[in-house]
Amino acid sequence: MILGQISYLDCLVFLVFLAPQLLIHVGLIRTATWLLGALPSLLPQVFLIPYQFVRERYLIPPEHRSPFVQRATPFQDIVIRFVRYAFAFMPAWLGRVFFSKHVSLPFLRFRMLRHGIVTAPLRWSEIDRPGLKGLWIVHNKLEQPDIIVYYCHGGGFSMGSSYFYMEFLLAWVTLLKHAGYRNPALFALEYTLVPDAVYPTQLQETLAGYEYVLSIARDSTRICVSGDSAGATLMLSFLLYITDHPELRHQRPGLAVMISPWVKIISPNNRNTSSDFLSSDALELYGKQYIGSKVPLDDPLVSPGYCKNIRKWRDASPDKGWYFLFGSEEVLGPEIRNLIEMLGKAGTDVDSYEEKGGIHAWPVAALYLGETKEERLHGLKEMTKAIRDRIS
Ligand SMILES: *[C@@H]1O[C@H](CO)[C@@H](O)[C@H](O)[C@H]1NC(C)=O
Repeated sequence: MILGQISYLDCLVFLVFLAPQLLIHVGLIRTATWLLGALPSLLPQVFLIPYQFVRERYLIPPEHRSPFVQRATPFQDIVIRFVRYAFAFMPAWLGRVFFSKHVSLPFLRFRMLRHGIVTAPLRWSEIDRPGLKGLWIVHNKLEQPDIIVYYCHGGGFSMGSSYFYMEFLLAWVTLLKHAGYRNPALFALEYTLVPDAVYPTQLQETLAGYEYVLSIARDSTRICVSGDSAGATLMLSFLLYITDHPELRHQRPGLAVMISPWVKIISPNNRNTSSDFLSSDALELYGKQYIGSKVPLDDPLVSPGYCKNIRKWRDASPDKGWYFLFGSEEVLGPEIRNLIEMLGKAGTDVDSYEEKGGIHAWPVAALYLGETKEERLHGLKEMTKAIRDRIS
């Protein structure tokens, strides 16, 4: 199932679904208190963001516009400006409601209806067991899958849900089917968010998710682990973890597809760029909360970029290697490039796609914000092709 671009009506409907959830999960008093406290800084933004938009987009010479502004449509540009503001200044307890199940699912239903779809051609089921939660999507329930993507969503460990990614995940399984797999499947892990738990809970849940996927796959080389941002970090940590656990190392996945991984949680190389919506300060704040107080900031299992052991990376490498997607303008870009270089030195099979003028997790965002179908599916098609070329 592949839907069209997000419209301004969608944005409005999203807010309508969001309002009652804010009241339920945060409460009127807390929402209102935050809003009142933030008003002095929030109110000017209502004017400042459109002003900066017009100035940076139309008034200054093109060569002074940020690389993202140069390539973005007005709609993409304005949405990313609001996202940038929200990421830098909105507390996570508020942000997590935005991307929660009870906002995302009605929103998806609305978008489906707007496209004349009442029941999704692809169904999902919820896995909910002690220590393991997630979404299972499979083309045909009755048959053995011939490819399984194991996915971890992003959101700074503090926000996001598999439900928010549902449209992306459904589109991906659809593309895998188009690419020639008989019965593609996907498991998206619903891990515990910070501050409800901190490291290593999320890593343990990632392991439990892999055990679950292994229990279905006949052959672990038919599993592709993937994730974006913090979710990709969890997958990197997981791959490093299994190097010391022979029983799992012998059942390594076939491939890793990493979208904008947050390679080093705390690093002086994570620096603001003029294009990206992430801010280095907010990242550090989120990152420190995830790491907690008991683990050193440079422990490789919590912050994989700190592993400089080439042999370990070789052992961690999936059978068919790695495929990275990221944007040239990312705050996380320098550390992603460092990791790719290290994996190359380790002699692993590593390919990457660095999108010019691209910002954080664009393959995910583009599915909603892309102008044409081509642009919306571009990243997903690259990922699908990377899988199909390596796991046939
Ligand atoms: C990074 O950008 C955010 C806004 O997105 C800003 O608040 C912050 O001060 C910037 N940090 C640095 C170190 O420039």
